[in-house]
Amino acid sequence: MKLEEELQKRRTFAIISHPDAGKTTLTEKFLLFGGAIQTAGSVKSNKIKNHAASDFMEIERQRGISVATSVMGFTYNGFHINLLDTPGHKDFAEDTYRTLTAVDSVILVVDCVKGVEEQTERLMQVCRMRNTPVIIFVNKLDRSGKDPFDLLDELEEKLQIRVRPLSWPINMGSDFKGVYNLYRQRLDLFNANKTQLEKEVISLASLETPELDELLGRDADQIREDAELIEGVYEPFNVEQYLEGKLAPVFFGSAINNFGVKELLDTFIEVAPYPGDKPTTQRVIQANEEAFSGFVFKIHANLDPRHRDRIAFLRVCSGRFQRNKFYHHVRLGKSFRFSNPYTFLGNEKSVTEDALPGEVVGLYDTSNFKIGDTLTEGENFMFTGIPSFSPEIFRELVNTNPLKTKQLEKGIRQLTDEGVAQLFYKQPGNRKIIGTVGELQFDVIKFRLEQEYGASCEFYPMQLYKACWITSSNKQKLKDFIERKSAFIAYDKDERPVFLAETASALTWTKDIYPDIEFHFISEYN
Ligand code: G4P
Repeated sequence: MKLEEELQKRRTFAIISHPDAGKTTLTEKFLLFGGAIQTAGSVKSNKIKNHAASDFMEIERQRGISVATSVMGFTYNGFHINLLDTPGHKDFAEDTYRTLTAVDSVILVVDCVKGVEEQTERLMQVCRMRNTPVIIFVNKLDRSGKDPFDLLDELEEKLQIRVRPLSWPINMGSDFKGVYNLYRQRLDLFNANKTQLEKEVISLASLETPELDELLGRDADQIREDAELIEGVYEPFNVEQYLEGKLAPVFFGSAINNFGVKELLDTFIEVAPYPGDKPTTQRVIQANEEAFSGFVFKIHANLDPRHRDRIAFLRVCSGRFQRNKFYHHVRLGKSFRFSNPYTFLGNEKSVTEDALPGEVVGLYDTSNFKIGDTLTEGENFMFTGIPSFSPEIFRELVNTNPLKTKQLEKGIRQLTDEGVAQLFYKQPGNRKIIGTVGELQFDVIKFRLEQEYGASCEFYPMQLYKACWITSSNKQKLKDFIERKSAFIAYDKDERPVFLAETASALTWTKDIYPDIEFHFISEYN
């Protein structure tokens, strides 16, 4: 098969949600449809149930699970689908944001009882930044949730995206009768069943057919009314607008009962984008170019402390990645080849000879990779758009075992290369400031520094509101600002200056007083 034809049969996506909305359950149902797993319950939830700071084994267990389920590949109706896992816990949100750079689209799961939750809003912000196409699955219809029209309004308002329902629920909770597929004009009647995969779907010529009254009784008129209202209020589904990330089709269902899931999957493979163009520092790379290229979006340390190697997850963006072929590591300007690259099927991994765009390969790494690194066949470009967010919690890292200073230095650099947290250096004294998005990362760092590097540290609290990267088109003004504000300046690992704002108002004043300086809340790795 030609590369272009192969590409059209590929879908690389992530399921995202606020914890507990049903991401794991939906993932599992997809894998069951794809035949990649045989029994329900085989996908382990990678969520940290409670904030158990002392429960380090839990952190380790989670790391184990997330290595195993980082990428799940399956085939469905001739399509090769790669589902990239994202951690649900908000303290690991950065990991999720970076994974979103490696997918072509997402399915967002919303709980019909809770509606749009905080984490959903933040995840959606990242999708909007990149114009990632989004399909929304409203889950748990077997519970009494919010009115579906109100839910659609809430989705539009809080997620700042236009929506278009493609299926519609007939009641909810104990009264839930099923969904009407507005896209294919089919009626799917609900029977609670957690194990059955295929079920009977009734095709109706139109909603006017008397068959509908026989099937639904007095609810038939309600669905007719609702459908009319939907057609009146919402424009017809426009695939182009979905692909541009401006319009989100909405499905309703119940993942645990495997209800509405097939409709979702069938429409997903039909409309979701296949691997396409990707921007780089030099030019736009087309997926169907001959030459291989790809970038690292995630790094995982080996769980076995005797082996210090790590696994770098590389998304193939163009050409064909091949085992044992030399590739150019752009940042280091060196060539590398990989004798045991692996790809993923279900929740198993196996060594692969080659991989095509959209696929993710796991590469054994001896600390040569950082997040955002690009491999090519020789060209010097870097993929762009892998975000690093301004952290929210700051602590100073203090070495408590001077005999292990070297180990600590190495450990903290490697852990921050993996993206566990961000590291800033502050003068005088080269003080190390660790910035994270969640408290849990400090526990992870302390624990892993001890376990993997034999180093020990303490964290001292710091009163900081934000660390913003600073730039200016006027080099002299930037230099002056850095000198004047030296007490509030630190440098990130790539020696880019950051301004440490102690409070929100301090940041606002500083911005007002120094209009030539630009303050950035998101920095890109490249
Ligand atoms: P997450 O990955 O987004 O965090 O959510 P997950 O799939 O783990 O689902 C969270 C909880 O919601 C689970 O219950 C799951 O069984 C339940 N759930 C998922 N889909 C549906 C649905 O369609 N209807 C209803 N009523 N519940 C649903 P749990 O009690 O937290 O876990 P478990 O012990 O059942 O695994």
